[in-house]
Amino acid sequence: LADERLSEAEILADPVAKIAAVGGARHPSIPLPRDLFAPGHRNSAGLDLSDVAVLERTVQAVSRPVASAPVAEGNVAEAVTRAHAAFPDWQVTPVDERAACLERLADLLEEHRDELMAICVQEARKTIADAIGEVREAADFCRYYAGEARARLRPVELPGPTGERNTLHIEGRGVWATVAPWNFPLAIFLGQTAAALVAGNTVVAKPAPQTPRIAARAVELAHRAGIPADALVLVPGGPEVGAALTADARVMGVAFTGSTATAKRIARTLVEDDDRPIVPLIAETGGINAMIVDSTALPEQVVADVIASSFRSAGQRCSALRLLLVQEDVADTVIEMLRGAMDTLRIGDPGNPATDVGPVIDRAAYDRLMGYRETVRDRWLKTVEVPADGLFVPPTLIRLGAIEELNQEWFGPILHVATWEAGKLSETIARVNAKGYGLTMGLHSRIARAAEVAEAEAAVGNLYINRSMIGAVVGSQPFGGEGLSGTGPKAGGPHYLYRFCAERAVSVDT
Ligand code: SER
Repeated sequence: LADERLSEAEILADPVAKIAAVGGARHPSIPLPRDLFAPGHRNSAGLDLSDVAVLERTVQAVSRPVASAPVAEGNVAEAVTRAHAAFPDWQVTPVDERAACLERLADLLEEHRDELMAICVQEARKTIADAIGEVREAADFCRYYAGEARARLRPVELPGPTGERNTLHIEGRGVWATVAPWNFPLAIFLGQTAAALVAGNTVVAKPAPQTPRIAARAVELAHRAGIPADALVLVPGGPEVGAALTADARVMGVAFTGSTATAKRIARTLVEDDDRPIVPLIAETGGINAMIVDSTALPEQVVADVIASSFRSAGQRCSALRLLLVQEDVADTVIEMLRGAMDTLRIGDPGNPATDVGPVIDRAAYDRLMGYRETVRDRWLKTVEVPADGLFVPPTLIRLGAIEELNQEWFGPILHVATWEAGKLSETIARVNAKGYGLTMGLHSRIARAAEVAEAEAAVGNLYINRSMIGAVVGSQPFGGEGLSGTGPKAGGPHYLYRFCAERAVSVDT
């Protein structure tokens, strides 16, 4: 494997082409479980397994070699130089042309869907259902931001005294750094990047160190869609690359998705240099996301939504449910049903279309989660068997004595449960709000007043009532939090592009 890796000098010379060309670890062919392909058979994520052709192609692609993770540190300054030089031309490229590039990119993503899914399965260990969602969301972001740019990023004529013409221009700011997470290595990587580009900025994009391959392929397709090579430059690498990139004084904005701690570090970096312009940071981070269930809720629906929200994607979504709060009168029933439902989860190879829960992203995550589980072993209400071979964290249900006992986001298939007293909905919401995060919250209730209270009092970016808490849809459920969960504006929402722009008011006395 070592022999197949490129030298740092080769990667620095042309990261995108080289990463795409690298050979890497070979994975065994994944057997096709044919009996699962009966028409209409769905796995628990609702994926219809009858489309044999698509699945066969995908699974074959998954068994092809995929690049090992390359690290290219040190070329950050050169990448920023290229993007900086490309800015003047890209900024004056008409918004319709920039939007057309994104629409072509969306078409290319769809054309290459099977290959992109396969890389997501292999590199990010996504299940096939999640990989389908990943490619769809990436294409949705591109089309949505293209439409938004066409509609919103045009000069606006404003009123003024007779004889004066006032115009507000909305333009790119310069070079943006986009720093993406491994859990949505295509959708969030491209969402942030596409928004910055269509707003008239050039971009230096840093994928997560765990997922450079899918990012390299996305950038290659973006260039093929018409985005100039220097308007979008990829810098794969670890935290050192991110630190060097955000510290470069020519970077005029940062869009980051990842941990709260890293977001704060970036914020500090951006203000360190007294001579540097004051630049925006868009940060989307984590949460201690709670779902509140009262005694009027339909237990079967609650359980289905809890299972999807906590364990789908192996709990590795920032939106995922971490803290289930059940009204005490119905807690025993709901917990008993939940334990039964956990037994039906299929845990295993993410390339198998029937799998519900795959492995976690890497050894460090595995060790962290397994270590935590051990510290609370006496509070386990349920855990399930997982294959011995692989980074499978057993889905686990943990009882808490009080809401306040959970103060950290555990980014995996670990769910905590506590109870609350009838009549104390407002107080319960306030206790969750007091954690300081504000990403997602759920409520299951058939009382209209309870929904009104949650809507008025839940301090979160995304509130989900009587449904699961994951899978925000671009353009319908703009996504992003407040407090320790992020800065806003919301990805996939109508105000997102503006934050990437500079505004210039021009007044002409005619
Ligand atoms: N947007 C994703 C979701 O809603 C999380 O990043 O699940």
